[in-house]
Amino acid sequence: VSLKDFNTFGIEAKANKYIRITEESSLKELYEQDAFKQKFFVLGGGSNVLFTEDYDGLIVHIANKGIQHFIEGNQVFVTASAGEVWNDLVWYCIKHDFPGMENLALIPGTVGASPIQNIGAYGTELMHIFYSCRAFDTHTGEFVTFTNVDCQFSYRDSIFKKEHKGRYIICSVTYKLSLFGQINTSYGAIEAELAKRNIQEPNIKDVAEVVSYIRVEKLPDPTTVGNAGSFFKNPIISKTQFINLQAQHPDIVHYPMGNDEEKLAAGWLIEQCGWKGKEVGEVAVWKNQALVLTNKGAASGAQIYEVSSKIVDDVLSKFGVKLEREVNVL
Ligand code: EPU
Repeated sequence: VSLKDFNTFGIEAKANKYIRITEESSLKELYEQDAFKQKFFVLGGGSNVLFTEDYDGLIVHIANKGIQHFIEGNQVFVTASAGEVWNDLVWYCIKHDFPGMENLALIPGTVGASPIQNIGAYGTELMHIFYSCRAFDTHTGEFVTFTNVDCQFSYRDSIFKKEHKGRYIICSVTYKLSLFGQINTSYGAIEAELAKRNIQEPNIKDVAEVVSYIRVEKLPDPTTVGNAGSFFKNPIISKTQFINLQAQHPDIVHYPMGNDEEKLAAGWLIEQCGWKGKEVGEVAVWKNQALVLTNKGAASGAQIYEVSSKIVDDVLSKFGVKLEREVNVL
């Protein structure tokens, strides 16, 4: 089976076996047929994966659908099936006037992927609205529930990327939103765009529209230009290392973490190394955001990976900081 249509990089790779799941009960059937004893990979929207070679195992494509909510006092619990498109869920909430997701508008991918890497953007992270998820345990064949604490969320990370990597298949996620939640426009780019539009008291729809506008301006549209959003994570370093770096690079872009650590803007580091807009064969570093690698059309996953390795090397030798890939490399 060709995976070209199932990864937003648009990489041509083949899978040995492929199955599309529309009912979670099919997972139990697969388990009973020992399907999870072979090598397998769970695919959602394919927006955070780079295939560097053909996949010699089973691809489990999660495509179950459905969104429900129930209101309890000042709170609303919204439950969405893992196969729902993330942005559709965001707009479901906006239409119902449920605040909390508007800053996360237009993030590519599916609901099922949202907790795995604790998606975040424009001042909001999933961990602040995540209540629980229902997941299938491929080791025992049982359905289990993970609470927010169970997931051990941190910046672009969760237990599903650490000790539980590859074990659980997320079937649905429940988000807890406050009906009177505060709108968060603290991110500079949002504030600036709202001011430009002369919106003084934005509602959640205004925020979602502004966030979507900023994303479209800065980030390549995966339906026309193959990419997987930020290719690297923003690196977190110690305050001591940061102070030394800042002495050498006074305009370094950074965010205090509120402890003795500092987060750096990987896009800035990469741009300083001269990579912004650079092309190597069929691979290009996005012209408006150096954190995004793109496929000009005929790139292979291995070629994209090779360029990413050169970027890692350059940033390491210029700044002494080791970038980590955010994208799942297979
Ligand atoms: N910057 C540069 N050069 C660049 C890119 C960025 O100097 O080529 C500077 C910008 O000027 C800005 C700072 O770096 O001062 C941060 O840039 P931006 O606001 O674009 O955000 P980011 O830190 O590069 C992160 C997320 C994005 C998310 C944005 C907005 C990560 C790895 N990425 O990017 O998430 O949309 O913040 O909140 O944390 C994704 O994960 O796929 C993704 C797109």
